[in-house]
Amino acid sequence: MYICDNVNVNEKGNLTFAGQDTLELAAKYGTPLYIMDEEKIRFNCNIYKNAFKKYFGDNALPLFASKAASFKRLYEIMKDEKMGIDVVSSGEIYTALKAGFSLENAYFHSNNKTDKDIEFAIENKIGYFVVDNIEELKRINYEAEKQGITQKVLLRITPGIDPHTFEAISTGKVDSKFGSAIETGQAEKITEEALKMSFVDLSGFHCHIGSQIFETEPFYKAVAVMLDFIGSIKTKLGFTAKQLNLGGGYGVRYTENDPVFDIDGSIKNVAQFIKEKSAEIGIEVPKILMEPGRSIVGNAGMTLYTAGTVKIIPGFKSYVSIDGGMTDNPRYALYKSAYTVINASKADKTADFNCSVVGRCCESGDIIQENIMLPQTGRGDIIAVLTTGAYNYSMASNYNRIGKPPVVMLNKGANYIAVKGETLEDIVRNDI
Ligand code: LLP
Repeated sequence: MYICDNVNVNEKGNLTFAGQDTLELAAKYGTPLYIMDEEKIRFNCNIYKNAFKKYFGDNALPLFASKAASFKRLYEIMKDEKMGIDVVSSGEIYTALKAGFSLENAYFHSNNKTDKDIEFAIENKIGYFVVDNIEELKRINYEAEKQGITQKVLLRITPGIDPHTFEAISTGKVDSKFGSAIETGQAEKITEEALKMSFVDLSGFHCHIGSQIFETEPFYKAVAVMLDFIGSIKTKLGFTAKQLNLGGGYGVRYTENDPVFDIDGSIKNVAQFIKEKSAEIGIEVPKILMEPGRSIVGNAGMTLYTAGTVKIIPGFKSYVSIDGGMTDNPRYALYKSAYTVINASKADKTADFNCSVVGRCCESGDIIQENIMLPQTGRGDIIAVLTTGAYNYSMASNYNRIGKPPVVMLNKGANYIAVKGETLEDIVRNDI
């Protein structure tokens, strides 16, 4: 009935998530509340792990792109699931370390790692840097020498692919702020530089073409460009890449309009294509990595709010104001992202009330979703926003000095707090 199989309605007419009554969860923990379905997270990890094993054998590893959702419990789950991770800041590295995640299979991204980040990551034995540009490569070489080690790196290459997703999350085009482009010769140049350096050990290449992708086609294109590049580097510089990291990008269903996508089937086809193309070029299939973020945690999350003011402006529009908003979910404000919104208290009632669901910030752009249908909604109703597991908690802010909501994990009928909600005292903690 709903966009994901962990969402349902019980005999009381209340919305359930991972089999648990959302009204009971809202009453127990308060709102706004992020809830996450631990079994779904593990299930999603296993889609990748099983597909990688089936289609690539042992020489492959999925990494969780932890920018999608970063807190200690998630790194513990990733450790348990034997996933690698992608990190983009000292903050994410620190959180992973605090969760006991060894950084051997951690890949450090970002288009601008600071000198401090580089020093911190090497001190903490980061597995790999995914190097964005020559300037950064030099700094890593310098820091590795200073700390007396040889640092493994991948180089981030811009393959020049547009995956048809929206501009803000499309990253593989030549004019992107990320990586070194093949088209401009910068990709070859950075490879040459890396091979000359004494304290970096080049393992291979990385690309990431974009996010919320429901097609295999852009991945074929990226693979073709990257393998051609690997082949030409072998010929020109005599270097054989040991790893190829294809980034993240598979989409999740936010609404009924998003297709049901078979990730296993897509990886199967990509794997087949990689094998054929590698044979054609005359190179060994490198170790394949992917970095899913959204498709690991997106449909494992839901946000619960309480409706406050319901404002009907006769002849114009109606608003349902909730006790959260752009501070816990900035994605509509940023990208006009579509979401499925449900009145969890009246999940069995007909949706005949046209309204916009808005947040409580002093800002007209503080919108969760515009022009949607809900049942007749009143103050005190619990409002659920589906598929908020990715890029919600991790992008939350304290605008208007609103504290971040807690994150509660649901697992096999039980629930527990993974991240405490911020109190008023937390809000002033760093004020002198
Ligand atoms: N690898 C790299 C290098 C990335 O830049 C990203 C996402 C991923 C992996 C994970 O991609 P995913 O599997 O989650 O699509 N804040 C935006 C999304 C930004 C994505 C940034 N990079 C949003 O809320 O839609």
